[in-house]
Amino acid sequence: MFPSSIFESDLYDFSEAPQRAPIGIFDSGVGGLTVLRQLYRLLPNESIIYFGDTARLPYGIRSQAEILQYVREILIWMQQQHVKMVIMACNTSSALALEAVREEFSLPILGIILPGARAAVNSGKRIGVIATPATAKSNAYRHAIVEINPDVQVWQVSCPEFVPLIEQSRIHDPYTLQVARSYLEPLLQQEIDALVYGCTHYPHLAPVLRSLLPSYVKLVDPAEYVVAACAQDLDILGLRNTHPPMPTRFAVSGCPQQFAQSSVQWLGYHPTVEAVQLINTPVSSH
Ligand code: DGL
Repeated sequence: MFPSSIFESDLYDFSEAPQRAPIGIFDSGVGGLTVLRQLYRLLPNESIIYFGDTARLPYGIRSQAEILQYVREILIWMQQQHVKMVIMACNTSSALALEAVREEFSLPILGIILPGARAAVNSGKRIGVIATPATAKSNAYRHAIVEINPDVQVWQVSCPEFVPLIEQSRIHDPYTLQVARSYLEPLLQQEIDALVYGCTHYPHLAPVLRSLLPSYVKLVDPAEYVVAACAQDLDILGLRNTHPPMPTRFAVSGCPQQFAQSSVQWLGYHPTVEAVQLINTPVSSH
């Protein structure tokens, strides 16, 4: 029998109807909701399992070995839920772990940086990237952008305070505006013509950032482009769902009530959120 809700889906292996299996998406917290929003818009028939690793956020100040371990644990859990594809709705994970886990898992896994870099080169020649400390340090955006177009100039700024402020729902706090002004300052000095949200949390700051940027600076949201890439891959693999979707399932490693409360403003509805205990994998030597 086909599961009537996504909560039953982990008891069902979808081998008879692989298109109806959910897509798994994950982030450290509410950042991935900016990707979920695009999934709802562009792929309304897909069932989705959202995982937020809220017990261990922020990811952006973690080492590569830690990120790799967390991502492995999440992917093992996603596999147990029989997802048909995983979107890393997290730039930090995409920058530090995508390559390694693609070798280890047989699931299709999409990262957000390459689609974001492709969108960036179509948006300007002087590109600013705001990102977590780990993503900025990895240079993942610079490498991806310059590989597509070596004539484009890239400036990256690490923004350690943004994720905690967003997770605390302090978007409209005057302090957030002050912090944003100081992060954007060096990019404005370089007269950037496009700004990439190099962290999925940052589109939540759109009104604040827009108020500080000249109107000619284009804001590039990689979320939109990773979902377009996902649609393309689903078609190539014959995995696009044409049936009505199951309700989105939300799971977190931290406090479910806290996640429900902070995500309602982005979702427009109060989600049911379950707590999940991930199975610890050994720390790698990377
Ligand atoms: N939203 C994630 C990203 O895109 C992770 C942010 C964090 O936890 O530091 O990088």
